[in-house]
Amino acid sequence: MSTGEAVAIAHPNVALSKYWGKRDGGGNFPAVPSLSITLAGLTTRTRVRWRSDLPNDRVVLDGRELRGPEAARALALVGRVRSELGLGASADVESLNDFPTASGLASSASGFAALALAAVPSGCDWEAARISDLARRASASAARSVFGGFVELEAGPRVAREDDFLAASQVAPPAHMPLVVLVCVTTEGPKAVSSTDGMRRTMANSPYAAAWVDHAPRLHRHLRDALLARDFERVGELAEASALAMHACAFAAGVTYWNAGTLEALAAVGALRADGTPAFATIDAGPHVKVLVRPEDAARAREVLGATPGVQRVIEATAGEGARLASAGEGP
Ligand code: DP6
Repeated sequence: MSTGEAVAIAHPNVALSKYWGKRDGGGNFPAVPSLSITLAGLTTRTRVRWRSDLPNDRVVLDGRELRGPEAARALALVGRVRSELGLGASADVESLNDFPTASGLASSASGFAALALAAVPSGCDWEAARISDLARRASASAARSVFGGFVELEAGPRVAREDDFLAASQVAPPAHMPLVVLVCVTTEGPKAVSSTDGMRRTMANSPYAAAWVDHAPRLHRHLRDALLARDFERVGELAEASALAMHACAFAAGVTYWNAGTLEALAAVGALRADGTPAFATIDAGPHVKVLVRPEDAARAREVLGATPGVQRVIEATAGEGARLASAGEGP
């Protein structure tokens, strides 16, 4: 018997200023602020049914039931909702991505944003910020996918306590600064090191970890200012600088996400710039390169990037809307 059902739709985001590293003390609080664009064009659809006839929670992702550590974060999220709302039922979760899962295309961001929204029965009327805080506990970048356009997540409190509240917020709507993100897919396989593990190893072992935590907030503030001033080139430069600083810090701890295609795509971005096309690269915890261009340069940049060795395909995305509840017929 179903005691409530909701379907939510959410999109991944790409961070312009990167979150990498957590505060000590649990609760999944970022050590640095971050700012991202929520992307239209890549979608996660998640259905949650609260069922009194199901003995245990169940999570099915892309047709496969998750077990053990793979299911842990989703189960913790629905467990939190159950205890906060006093629900006497199990969650039956079904989720579908229309892009490669866990490959560095931020499927955990859209996945946990959709799950947080679908898990809270609509009659409960939780504000978006509360959904964002719930999503952050599972995956901090997911807090940002709750909102559309350009979205910021502050660092957590220096001495964070598990129950402190931290939600993302919108800095500017999608139309604020027209741009296109060209996602250069350099492998279809899953990534070797999760973001959680990669940042834990970076913070524990990188000789540059303290320098990153010191530098990232400044970079973030400059990027935010450039965004509010609609200065595309400055935003692009700072986004590239943030990604390179994050990866340099991770590399020094032996945490390497790049493949040969990553380097080829970075070189192609440099060549586009040398040729007079403002194009800027950013890279998350995977080997794909996400290239920021103005809409009028997208076709040319796509042609160049698509012909770059090691780039298997290029997905085009723009700034899009935040997570929302689906209407009938939009389910997974
Ligand atoms: C490189 O949000 O996946 O994409 O909170 O441990 O789940 P957890 O990490 P996650 O990390 C994202 C890292 C990043 C940069 C970013 O999105 O800001």
